[in-house]
Amino acid sequence: MQVVILAAGQGTRMRSSRPKVLQPLGGSSLLGHVLATARSLGPKRLCVVFGHGGEAVPAVFPESDIRWVRQVPQLGTGHAVRQALPELDASGVVLVLYGDVPLLSVSTLRTLVAMAGDGERLALLTAHVEDPTGYGRIVRDGGGGIVRIVEHKDATPDERAIREINTGIMALPGACLADWLGRLNNDNAQSEYYLTDLIALAAADRVDIVASHPSVAWETLGVNDKAQLAQVERILQHEIAQGLLASGVTLRDPARIDVRGSLACGKDVEVDVGCVFEGRVVLGEGVRVGPHCVLRDVEVAAGTHIAAFSHLDGAQIGADCRVGPFARLRPGTVLGAEAHIGNFVEVKNSVIGIQSKANHLAYVGDASVGSNVNIGAGTITCNYDGANKHRTVIEDDVFIGSDTQLVAPVTVGRGATLGAGTTLTRDAPAGALTLSRARQTTIEGWKRPRKSRS
Ligand code: UD1
Ligand code: CA
Repeated sequence: MQVVILAAGQGTRMRSSRPKVLQPLGGSSLLGHVLATARSLGPKRLCVVFGHGGEAVPAVFPESDIRWVRQVPQLGTGHAVRQALPELDASGVVLVLYGDVPLLSVSTLRTLVAMAGDGERLALLTAHVEDPTGYGRIVRDGGGGIVRIVEHKDATPDERAIREINTGIMALPGACLADWLGRLNNDNAQSEYYLTDLIALAAADRVDIVASHPSVAWETLGVNDKAQLAQVERILQHEIAQGLLASGVTLRDPARIDVRGSLACGKDVEVDVGCVFEGRVVLGEGVRVGPHCVLRDVEVAAGTHIAAFSHLDGAQIGADCRVGPFARLRPGTVLGAEAHIGNFVEVKNSVIGIQSKANHLAYVGDASVGSNVNIGAGTITCNYDGANKHRTVIEDDVFIGSDTQLVAPVTVGRGATLGAGTTLTRDAPAGALTLSRARQTTIEGWKRPRKSRS
């Protein structure tokens, strides 16, 4: 089986400078979804016809299994498939997909392809709809056999009354394709070479034409404008949420979660409202995620609680940690088990050891923090000297008083204590109290200034 994805169309109604098939959907793009579905079918060839948007479309998909075919100008769906002929074998089945129909299921396509046999039959994916306006209509003869497709703009009033429509997706006999495409003309309302005109040619050549239908109606929704883009996004998110519920995840509101990538959950995971998961996220058993958190490329081990409004990106979080509310973990953060990262604490490219805590208002960047360390409120690692980044090492059992600056590169030895307000510019020895602080003085008899009367 070979796949051709048509993705050259303009998409004017998106009112966007981004090519239509690159519009975002569930953390990927419209075309990204179609490519993923196509790959699940294990095709021998995977061709994408592109045109509008130029090289911007292939640039997003560097994968070497795709054969890119340029279609300029875009003279219709039949013309588009004809451009792909040099990349196709004249045998087996050629499955035509649209780059802007992203929700088709693999099982619906498997059924369609199976109906086409080894290319003995032409199989169409059709649907019965309430309002067929705009679609090509499936014209059947007295015996119920499919004889042709008529486009809406070319259809007579009687034909327009037909409620069975062409979804556009079809499985064609590879051996006939070059011949049929060569016989197309553009003598129609849109002056286009219609792929749908192949059906009449197949009927004339006495090739069997069969139809199958999508498992659910929304599978064949096409995306032409931002309203339809939002609609398919909601359908996709609804499906993902249902899958999570079915696997035992507690979602406080399945309508208020967005998964833009993959989310794998252990048993008894709870996710509150308004959370966004991006990239690859793994939540271990019993993990709870509070409301309005964003997690991108994060692994969270069992029993950890992420409290409200936390933003976690590229972090690895150990078991039984407490993170947030209002925590920010940036790429390269690794938290050991039972670590606590509290409100308004930012951690970047740092390892925080077991049972260590930074509970309030701190910045920990490019640091190695041992276990059982207490980082006081307002503590900052000064990791950047304006040109280079330097590391801070904080060994086990250290206590850092509030409002301390650690000017890297610097090391705080095991068990050391830093007094509040210290600006540490040299290493602090293990086990000792180190502080840098002007001695406190009191001026006796001092009076506050008063407003002068004039
Ligand atoms: C097409 C079908 C119609 C069907 C409908 C389903 C034809 C002639 N008509 O109509 O029967 O009911 O889809 O949505 O096929 N494309 C190209 N190059 C082109 C033209 C189109 O790559 O020159 C691509 C578009 O990017 C799009 C797809 O083909 O992904 C369909 O094109 P579109 O213009 O939307 O087809 P419709 O007129 O809607
Ligand atoms: Ca069109």
